[in-house]
Order: sequence, then structure tokens, then C-alpha cells
Amino acid sequence: MAHAGSDWLILIAAGGETIKNPVSTRNAALRNISLNFLPPKSRNGKARSRQVAFHSDRGRPHALHVSLLSVPRSLRAMRHARDRRTLACPGLAAGGELQDAQIRLYGGVVMSLAIKNLNAPLGAEISGLDLSKPIAPNEVRTIEDVWRERLVVVFHDQKLLDPQLIAFSKNFGELDPPGPNPYGEPFLKDHPELNVISNVVENGKPIGNLGDGEAVWHADMTYVEVPPKAAMLHSLEVPPPEAGGNTYFANMFAAYEALPAELKEAAKDKIAVHDASTNSAGMLRKGYKAVMDVRETVGAHHPLIRTEPTTGRKALFLGRRANAYVLGLEVSESEALLDALWAHATQPRFTLCHRWKVGDVLMWNNLSVLHRRDPFDPKTRRVMHRSQIKGNERIH
Ligand SMILES: [Fe+2]
Repeated sequence: MAHAGSDWLILIAAGGETIKNPVSTRNAALRNISLNFLPPKSRNGKARSRQVAFHSDRGRPHALHVSLLSVPRSLRAMRHARDRRTLACPGLAAGGELQDAQIRLYGGVVMSLAIKNLNAPLGAEISGLDLSKPIAPNEVRTIEDVWRERLVVVFHDQKLLDPQLIAFSKNFGELDPPGPNPYGEPFLKDHPELNVISNVVENGKPIGNLGDGEAVWHADMTYVEVPPKAAMLHSLEVPPPEAGGNTYFANMFAAYEALPAELKEAAKDKIAVHDASTNSAGMLRKGYKAVMDVRETVGAHHPLIRTEPTTGRKALFLGRRANAYVLGLEVSESEALLDALWAHATQPRFTLCHRWKVGDVLMWNNLSVLHRRDPFDPKTRRVMHRSQIKGNERIH
């Protein structure tokens, strides 16, 4: 089967024969193929063959011939691209370069999508899908698998109208309406289940939330008892690259695993309150009073360490720093513990930087990552539409 990705074309053949039918019962045992980009032997773009290993349902190693028909970018060019992107996100351990591709087969169905892990402790890019159209159940499952494993999924070159963003989002669960914004009414009257993130002001009124300043590290809506499990953000207008506005994600599994023993012990079994009064840009939400004493913060109570129900893996669960308080501690002790945990969790070694292009769709695992946004030039326009998926898990 031939697959045309954004920058390569792959022809898969098994046992030396081309798979002509994407649904092949002969290959029903195939589950997962990993393909590493190797230095090309041919410079003229002609078919080249690779043998790669894959795993079968029966646990036996197999071999598969993979022919790369066209590789417009050499590895050298890819490395140059990585260097440029790293410079665009200064201070980060990794800049979002692509390192390998995976082609997955579910029940013998070869899907026309490709997955590339980003060169960071989280994040993967999926190409080969048009999200404006209905996607197949096995593709939904694949996206969910990548979202669960890599925590942030990046799609490029999408053109979604609001109903299409809603339809795509609903593949992953019921939509969770946005929290109250500072203006007290939905930004999209026809689609109140969507949020708008924008600095644009029209007729004296902001068309979206968060302005042009920094959005500090946070997870979305953890001030409710059952926070959303996933969020999607679709970029419609973005500032030029030099104007700022990059978004960063931090892997809270990795942060927990690397936590010094004394901090792990200090956070164990502790519960914190997650402030509902302000958004990530520090604006007071309509209907809330400014918090003067963190012991009176209004919002949900969650453990500082979350255990993922399906895997038992532990992750830091911090929500947002402003007005947080660890129950049962003196305020000074609570502040010291939270400062130490936040400083640890947001180190560049746990993060991914995303530099936006128009048409990007990002989907992140809200309970397992923190995210933040750089400020950007207020003279530029940035417009993004956003959905989120209801959670089904109390934090334990
Ligand atoms: Fe957010």
C-alpha cells in the first residue's frame, strides 16, 4: 500500500509482495511496525528497500520489506531544520524535531496515517489525516493511543470550520464547555461549547480570551472535581515567528519520576486546593472575588500526586500555582513545598515547545501535562478555537 505523507512516500511490501489491498487477512497478525529513518543510499529518489523488524500478535519476530520511493529531505537537511527550530524556542532541551515514523496496523488494516515522535520527552506528530472529514474508528483508536503515550498530538495543515472541530473532538468523548471567562458570556454564540483564545478586539470587544500576555504554567479547569481529560486547539491566525506566542508542554509523569526523594516524600498523600478565581493570564473570572488568604481559596481539592487508573503510573498533579494551598500545612510550609514542586516540574528537560503555524491542531492530555504560552507582540493577531473533552476520572 502506498502512503503519501507530508514529506515522504512509503510503499509497504510483505514477503516481497506488494500489499495491494489495505485490508489484508493474510497479514492479520501484524500489529506494529517501527521504521527508523536511515541515511539514504540513493540520491535520485528511486525506490530503495529496507528490511525492518515488527512484532506480531503471536510474539514472533518477522521481517518486512519497506521501500522508500521518495525522500525529498536528507537527514542532513532534517538536522538543519532541527537546529533552526531549537533556536526558535530558546532555553528548551528539544525543539520539536521529528525522529522516526511508525506505521501501525490494527487487525490487518494498514492505515494511511504516519506517526512521528517529537524529539522531546513528550509529543508526536500525526500526518495523513484530514480532520475536517469523518475519521475511521481504528484511526480514532490510534490517535487515542498516541495521546495516551505521548501526551501531546500535533496535526498540521488542517482547515476546520467550528462544526468540524466539534465533530472531530466528539470522537474522543462528550464536550466539556469552557469555564467562565472574564466577560461572562460565550465568545461563539452559535457554538458555546467552543472557546476562543485571541487578543483581537472588534468593535471595542475582545473576540476571545487570554489577551497577548503570558499564560502561566497550568492545566485546564483543575479547579473542578472532574477536570477535562483532553483539550484541542486549532490555530486560525498566528503572529509571525519572531513575534512570540509559542506554547510549551511539560510531562508530569517524567517530572514525578525524576522528583528528588525528599520532595516525593513531602508531596505523598498531600491534598491541594486548585484556585477557580483567575484564568491562566491572571484575570479574575466573572463572579469570583480576589483571593486574599490562600487558606480561603475556592476550588476543587486534588492530591499532589495522581495515579493513572489504567496503568498505575504516577504523575505530579499541580493545576496552577496562583492561590494554591496544601491542606493541613502552615501557609509558609505550603508555599515552600509548592514552589519547590513547580520549580522542579517546569524544568526544560521535561518540556516540549510548539511554534504555531496556521492550520495546526494540537490535542493534549490535560491530566498529565502542564502548559503555558509566551507573550506575543500586541500589534499582531492570534486567533485559535478550542474544544475540550469531559473527564471521567476523579483524581486519586
Ligand atoms: Fe490552558
